[in-house]
Amino acid sequence: MSQISAPLIELDWKNFQPWKVTAVRHRLSDHDLLQPDQLIELSKRLEERGRVRTHASSATADTPFNAAPEIHPNSSSAADTLKRIRDAKAWLSLLNVQTDATYRELVDQVLDSVRPLVEAKDPNMSYRGGWIFVTSPNTVTPFHIDKEHNFILQIQGRKTIYVWDPDDEVVVSQKARDLFHARHDRDLIVWKEEFRKRAHRFEVGPGDGAYMPSTAPHLVEVGDEPSITMSFTYYTDSTRRQSMLHYARGHLADRGIALPNVGDSQLLDQLVYMGATPVRATLRAARRLAGRPVAAERARYAHHKFS
Ligand SMILES: [Fe+2]
Repeated sequence: MSQISAPLIELDWKNFQPWKVTAVRHRLSDHDLLQPDQLIELSKRLEERGRVRTHASSATADTPFNAAPEIHPNSSSAADTLKRIRDAKAWLSLLNVQTDATYRELVDQVLDSVRPLVEAKDPNMSYRGGWIFVTSPNTVTPFHIDKEHNFILQIQGRKTIYVWDPDDEVVVSQKARDLFHARHDRDLIVWKEEFRKRAHRFEVGPGDGAYMPSTAPHLVEVGDEPSITMSFTYYTDSTRRQSMLHYARGHLADRGIALPNVGDSQLLDQLVYMGATPVRATLRAARRLAGRPVAAERARYAHHKFS
């Protein structure tokens, strides 16, 4: 485990609210592991294990996020794309970099440095991960949501990050969140240009970043230079609870049972949570017995098998 150090992510920690979007600052832009040559080497190691996601710059804000690599393919290897990123017309993400021993140390260094500050408000950080995005000029990350809390830190180049509140039901409905948590389906998460005026908008350069709570919708637009960005992500008790409530609502809706919105009744939410927890545990155990992969959400790291 890395040594606990001063927080490597700066924000108003005293007033930190785990479910509120906020700007952050950081000191990682000069880190050796985040320079282009090192990222090319990492991309070779991760591509061998299928841990690269890429699409062409022709993707737009309204491209369905899950299908972007199929609809707008980038046929070059990850290393070739990174070597000529200025002209590659591509978006490339190195996924779950904590599965690489060298980069796991970086994930630990950063998340260990903020863990006590996070957990003072949002207990039990787990499933920690790192994601590095290398992007050609004028390229978009389509509108979408993710399950993890996310510190998104700009390393090189400039981009505009649009983030919406995680409870903004005009932008992403409760039904869309239910489907996402129940089936990892983003089909009801659909971009409309009119959403822009409701967004928190961050114009970021090296040293800047943002905190995006779990399921805060987001859209990213890169400026006129290539961009490198790193995200540090994790689950907590509150993200697992919120996910479970939407998961239960999604599955009950399939059976014709419509529950009120998550957050409308604390008591009902608590009853649903208590009821759904053992059901989901049983289903996951059955899946494991059948030899199917099950994410261990309370594990220290996402997608990493330790020897
Ligand atoms: Fe995302």
